[in-house]
Amino acid sequence: MRFDVLTLFPEIFSGYLGQSLLKLAIDRGLVDVQLHNIRDWAKGKHHNVDDRPFGGGPGMLIMPGPAVEAVEAVRPQSDNPGRLLLLTPQGRRLDQRMAEDLSQAGRILLLCGRYEGFDQRVTDLLEPEEVSIGDYVLNGGEVAAMTIIDAVVRLVPGVLGDEESSVQDSFSRGNRILEHAQYTRPREYRGLGVPEVLLSGNHPDIAAWRERDARERTEQRRGDLLGDKDPSE
Ligand code: ADE
Repeated sequence: MRFDVLTLFPEIFSGYLGQSLLKLAIDRGLVDVQLHNIRDWAKGKHHNVDDRPFGGGPGMLIMPGPAVEAVEAVRPQSDNPGRLLLLTPQGRRLDQRMAEDLSQAGRILLLCGRYEGFDQRVTDLLEPEEVSIGDYVLNGGEVAAMTIIDAVVRLVPGVLGDEESSVQDSFSRGNRILEHAQYTRPREYRGLGVPEVLLSGNHPDIAAWRERDARERTEQRRGDLLGDKDPSE
């Protein structure tokens, strides 16, 4: 699975890419993340990438030239041009179903905005899929791009071991139930014990307890998940 990230701030990604699960997946050749600085496609002595909006208004916009030319240079010309995502609060909201779909793509380009966003012609010319990670405004698309990479790589075969399989994840494959509570050692901590059934070795009883706990949690916290209708549809 290959990701190409186009951003004005590639250094934001360095700590994230160098850590734990993602680093392991990269070292094992299962995932490749290439960073591209949009400023490399800026023209002129000062390599400007942004300017004030025509008609006035706050902030600065990323000019069409550097963004469009960066995507054209990075996007493969081969059979699989990959999926081009533009991160914006105006996009379709990310959910587990979208992450599962993206994990099939083989290649994903992530175009990250800063300032007040992109000149409209970037969208008009490139026709990206616009994606939001939630109804709040971030300072830029970088954290959103990392969120997408994080959600997608766990679904790439081989990235998680069998024991940590993502199949049981709360929102996996139409699964719309939260996970049950979990306990590890010690058996007692600050006066709080562990439900007796989990120590019993009785696996049918343990499974029944977990199912009940998961259902109760879902009812209490996310009743919306239990309705007939999938809100992402
Ligand atoms: N850029 C700024 N806010 C964003 C959001 N909520 N999702 C994706 N990209 C963004």
